[in-house]
Amino acid sequence: MHDFQYLNGSLHCESVSLEKIAEKEGTPFYCYSRHTLARHVKSYSDAFKDIKNLICFAVKANSNIGVLRELIKEGAGCDIVSGGELFRALKAGCDPRKIVYAGVGKTEEEIEYALKSEILMFNVESSQELFAIDKVAKRLDKKAAVALRVNPDVDPKTHPYISTGLKKNKFGISIDLALEEYRLAARMDNIEIVGVHQHIGSQITQISPFVDAVERLLPFVEKLREINIHIKYIDVGGGLGITYKDESPPLPAELAKEIVPLLKKTDCTIVFEPGRVIVGNAGILVSKVLYAKKNEGKTFYVVDAAMNDLVRPSLYQAHMSIQPISHASLERGKVEADVVGPICESGDFLAKDRVLPEFKQGEMMAVMGAGAYGFTMSSNYNSRRRVAEILVTGDTYKVVRARETWEDLVRGETMAD
Ligand code: LLP
Repeated sequence: MHDFQYLNGSLHCESVSLEKIAEKEGTPFYCYSRHTLARHVKSYSDAFKDIKNLICFAVKANSNIGVLRELIKEGAGCDIVSGGELFRALKAGCDPRKIVYAGVGKTEEEIEYALKSEILMFNVESSQELFAIDKVAKRLDKKAAVALRVNPDVDPKTHPYISTGLKKNKFGISIDLALEEYRLAARMDNIEIVGVHQHIGSQITQISPFVDAVERLLPFVEKLREINIHIKYIDVGGGLGITYKDESPPLPAELAKEIVPLLKKTDCTIVFEPGRVIVGNAGILVSKVLYAKKNEGKTFYVVDAAMNDLVRPSLYQAHMSIQPISHASLERGKVEADVVGPICESGDFLAKDRVLPEFKQGEMMAVMGAGAYGFTMSSNYNSRRRVAEILVTGDTYKVVRARETWEDLVRGETMAD
């Protein structure tokens, strides 16, 4: 469910016309619905209300502080993977006691920043990282709260680039070796073991991988207890998918129905790290057709957004659905076309061989479901300025990130002479 619908033949976000926003702010831009964001946090926390839970939004999916602020107001904490994400989470007003920090390559500088900020816990991915955290904590005369990220070797049945819980992936510590690492952690003076963490992948559209992972994790928690390690948090990660094309992923409530009975057996607080399912269809990317071009019978819509603005189609061959902003395009019939950006790469496309309404030059289209891993994966390739981000609330909107200027492009650069 989302809040983008046609009113009087024109696509709106909540009650605001996207044509109106484009007139005032120009294109391309990302547009997010506050109402969808809030509803998604609520549906996640409602689904798991029968167990002690903490929902930590995966900031990598959308790290705009305006967006984070709204999620935090709804009670969410943050799952971060860098000092930069910590900075954003704190800036947006997140309670540090609701911040969990994962990532295979935390630097000492980042560890120090997180320790000083008094986050809830580090999700640790290797023994060398444990030593690093212990060392920094010692220097600061602190105890670092940690969970170890165990890799349950479960196939999430998703795109290989976004599978993370298999033995061959770089993430976490194999569940078969993790007990030894816990013993090691327990011997460290400045480490306090508080939890266990896992995250098996992203855009997961079935319930069974989640169930399998939890079923592997719970006996492990038992084994920890047997060696006198009593944890408070079980962090089961994120990964729930959304509908981009014809997938029908479970709703949070459907997932909860299967895993809550398992998780209820522990008295731990269960941490969730949803990203995509919270922001994915709360956002779209609006772009304008610069040129409608025909080459040997093939139609290309050259639009003003490109792979630097939304890389998912180029990087994962992801299908992102496209809708016209105005119904006028719909009335003209259908054309098979590629939607491409201005970047000098053949891989620069938003859609390939797609049956679309016939667009005329100057008309606009929306790439739907672009709220997750859209802006956050954008870059300045081809010296393109990153686009504006807009947050709609009811009948008003706010530019929560200004479109970059030419000057922004060279900020920090200098010439040797
Ligand atoms: N927790 C951890 C430790 C993660 O690595 C991730 C995502 C999440 C939570 C959130 O997963 P989600 O609920 O959003 O599935 N750029 C890719 C997705 C990469 C996901 C990386 N990790 C894409 O555009 O599909």
